[in-house]
Amino acid sequence: MMVNGQRYRTVWLSEEDGRVVQIIDQRKLPFEFEIEDLPTVEAVATAIRDMHVRGAGCIGGTAGYGMYVAALEAANAPDFKEALETKAKQLVETRPTAVNLKWAVDRQLAAILGTDGDVEEQILVAKETALAIADEDADWCRRIGEHGLKLIEAIAATKAPGEPVNVLTHCNAGWLAFVDFGSATAPIYAAHDAGIPIHVWVDETRPRNQGARLTAWELGGHGVLHTVIADNVGGHLMQHGMVDLVITGTDRTTRAGDVANKIGTYLKALAAKDNGVPFYVALPSSTIDWAIRDGVKEIPIEQRDATEVTEISGLPIEAEGNVNETTIRLTPEDTSAANFAFDVTPSRLVTGLITERGVCEASEEGILDLFPEHKEVAEME
Ligand code: MRU
Repeated sequence: MMVNGQRYRTVWLSEEDGRVVQIIDQRKLPFEFEIEDLPTVEAVATAIRDMHVRGAGCIGGTAGYGMYVAALEAANAPDFKEALETKAKQLVETRPTAVNLKWAVDRQLAAILGTDGDVEEQILVAKETALAIADEDADWCRRIGEHGLKLIEAIAATKAPGEPVNVLTHCNAGWLAFVDFGSATAPIYAAHDAGIPIHVWVDETRPRNQGARLTAWELGGHGVLHTVIADNVGGHLMQHGMVDLVITGTDRTTRAGDVANKIGTYLKALAAKDNGVPFYVALPSSTIDWAIRDGVKEIPIEQRDATEVTEISGLPIEAEGNVNETTIRLTPEDTSAANFAFDVTPSRLVTGLITERGVCEASEEGILDLFPEHKEVAEME
């Protein structure tokens, strides 16, 4: 997507030194746009764990490039395979919920170790696979946009001329959460670009405020009309007919259509069900965990540091020319806090899944209709 007139992805290889991964440091947005160099696996792991990059597809894309760096580093170790596998484990252990991370690392391991060639050849394969993972993620998100656009067009057709379609989204499943385009935002960008009047309700998404900080920045950069709301507002808006559809992303989707997404998504799905508002989840198939069905029981939910709840950061309003963010405490000093980062929305609350191959029902049958190559696993179980 464009930033200040220049085209960016969220992760790429440096033009100056093709052995270095570069990312947009998302912790700094929306106040500063900063590129960070990741020259080592250690740096890549830190960037994922500490959320310099975040969002399922972006984490997967970064891990793909991280495995290329891992292959470069492993080339200096006495045992290439052992070193590569150790670095792969280091990357996989950074964040537990988004399945794209393990998917990308496993794909790299299979490609690199499946190569009949010397270490030079294996490094080349690692680089090609990293580029392929990134290109595929961008292309799949672009196609999600095309399929989701049809849903928005159908709603727009029921509106008076000029009346906007109101979409509610949670967290950031935008281009920052992927390599490009985004999942939940791809249909929104496509509709906006097609000239359909559209307005987005942006959940702020405490505790880390990915909605208020990242989605608002993204949508504003693309000229999409939007309004940030506190996380508890969505139900009220739905009761008053102010939301036409909800589109969220997902960090892991089971083969039966349960979706794990940023904490608070489940409550939005309940409110949508109660108010007859369509609730769609947009995802590339790299986010599907084909090995599991019951999301509530089987998806590990990341618990993060309590300070993300007890503290908050932002720009001091009155400081002149001061671009440094300040962190303040929100709670009494000794208050304890819990920080569950994701929740699971059962498939029964999901109207449909928007994937790169089209829109399907959130059920095993619906998903396998679009992805029949995964049927066999189901029959074997
Ligand atoms: O903790 P994060 O920011 O990595 O969480 C991921 C998300 O941004 C959301 O859950 C998103 O809706 C899905 S990621 C494509």
